[in-house]
Amino acid sequence: MPRVLITGASGLLGRALVKEFTKASWEVLGLAYSRAGGVLKKVDLTDSLAVRNVLTEYKPAVVVHSAAERSPDVVEKQEGVARKINVDASSLIASICDEIGAYMIYLSTDYVFDGKNAPYKPGDQPNPLNKYGQSKLDGEVAVQKHECSATLRVPVLYGDVEYLEESAITVLFKVLLDTSQPAAICDYQLRYPTHVQDIAAVCRQMADLYMKSPSAVKGIFHWSNDELVTKYSLMTMMAEIFHIKSDHITANKEPTGTPRPYNCQLDTTALSDLGIGQKTKLRESIEACLQPYFKK
Ligand SMILES: NC(=O)c1ccc[n+]([C@@H]2O[C@H](COP(=O)([O-])OP(=O)(O)OC[C@H]3O[C@@H](n4cnc5c(N)ncnc54)[C@H](OP(=O)(O)O)[C@@H]3O)[C@@H](O)[C@H]2O)c1
Repeated sequence: MPRVLITGASGLLGRALVKEFTKASWEVLGLAYSRAGGVLKKVDLTDSLAVRNVLTEYKPAVVVHSAAERSPDVVEKQEGVARKINVDASSLIASICDEIGAYMIYLSTDYVFDGKNAPYKPGDQPNPLNKYGQSKLDGEVAVQKHECSATLRVPVLYGDVEYLEESAITVLFKVLLDTSQPAAICDYQLRYPTHVQDIAAVCRQMADLYMKSPSAVKGIFHWSNDELVTKYSLMTMMAEIFHIKSDHITANKEPTGTPRPYNCQLDTTALSDLGIGQKTKLRESIEACLQPYFKK
């Protein structure tokens, strides 16, 4: 069985990655930090020696580097701390992958773009509007110096959350359920919510293809669902699905808070042309993810 090492294995995407690779009969080692335990090994990715030890001892054929600080608001406030994981750790992992001959998939974001010229192809010029996007782009540049790597850019993610605030999509349901106060919800930025099981499947398919044809899946790739929503339209959909009143919600047409790009739709042709990809239907899967949090 080929070996895969997954960083951020306790996170929203990482949990789906562990499931997907295990199901496909890969031998999996998942790394975590504050939520380590059980089968997940505790490694602080900002500790260079610990990172070197785990990679050189396990000798994976593939590393999926999913760990990051991925909240734009947190990165805006704690840029130095976030860059240690988003840039420095990514660079170190890529250089060790080069040494041990492992293929690395670095998870990045549509926020490397400014949102003015969608849809974006992998070779289009990045121009991040916020510190999170810049840190992920700097991570990309560091990783791409190493032959062994692929960068996979993805949009906003959702899936089976441990708590509603875990995803920028599912947290909207919490606001919808709280009818005690009015809420003005963004109806400006265009989003393409994508299920983590789709991204996990894409990573596993990339890894499988790498094992057969190593040069086919190096460079920059995009994956995304293509169902367009705003946060406001998505909340309206949630209200319809669960027959909940949404009178306390109004549409806010103006951008607010940390700068975010208007429309970062990702062109997924490069992966589709390789026979890679899967797109889960939004409405049904949103319903399934939120159902455990809905009490009649
Ligand atoms: N979520 C999105 O909407 C979204 C959108 C676009 C791109 N992405 C990218 O997709 C990837 C996965 O995102 P996600 O939503 O799954 O993130 P997440 O749920 O916030 O998980 C982050 C993971 O990183 C780990 N981590 C953080 N600091 C660490 C450290 N110092 N040492 C070791 N591990 C550390 C966390 O471990 P513990 O929790 O155990 O501490 C956790 O497993 C990221 O690269 C992100 O930039 C995400």
